[in-house]
Amino acid sequence: MNRSLTLLMLFCILLLAACKVSQPGDVESSIMKSVKRTVTIGDKEKKNPIASSPDAIKEGGEHFQHHCQICHGLDGHATGVPFAAQMSPPVPDLSDKDIQEYTDGQLHWIVENGIAPSGMPAWKGILDDDEMWKVVHYIRNLPAKGSLGAPAIFKEEAEEHEKMEKGSTPEKEHHQHKH
Ligand code: HEC
Repeated sequence: MNRSLTLLMLFCILLLAACKVSQPGDVESSIMKSVKRTVTIGDKEKKNPIASSPDAIKEGGEHFQHHCQICHGLDGHATGVPFAAQMSPPVPDLSDKDIQEYTDGQLHWIVENGIAPSGMPAWKGILDDDEMWKVVHYIRNLPAKGSLGAPAIFKEEAEEHEKMEKGSTPEKEHHQHKH
């Protein structure tokens, strides 16, 4: 191996190691991003075998609202998901330019394989292939941010929380958030 390449690799490894101790730094994130985009995520050339239509988008939306809402919200913009920003990396807004720039094949690949080691799970064996392609159509046609409200489970949680704080007994006071 050529000497300057070895040095460059060593530099990158040190840089990554240095960032590990704290939150992922900007440098690490941008290195990870370009690795993710150029190496890890495959199927760039694969075409969506299902034509986009209101029915396909609607069906994709139903799968999305069943399997993905817990992290991505009903609308794909992570609306009402209380921990979205706390995940590392955070749950992105799927309307972001970076994500919309993926080809359909890459989006399908992401859904099928997930993104290790982040919190984005793989759906192979849970969704069938056609269902994943329809979910891709939904991601291309997301409803406006906030238009579908928060997922029911988080709405109930917020209400419970309020109730607990109103009728606060000493024990329940512990429940308040400490940041
Ligand atoms: C347990 C939480 C969770 C669930 C459930 C989940 N995701 Fe994700 N998703 C994430 C996180 C966290 C990221 C950010 C990953 C990253 O940037 O490395 C992500 C990222 C993505 C991305 C963008 C990837 C990129 O490279 O920027 C897409 C597309 C996506 N998810 C689609 C889906 C779909 C479709 C479903 C349902 C079939 C789903 N996700 C279910 C947590 C989740």
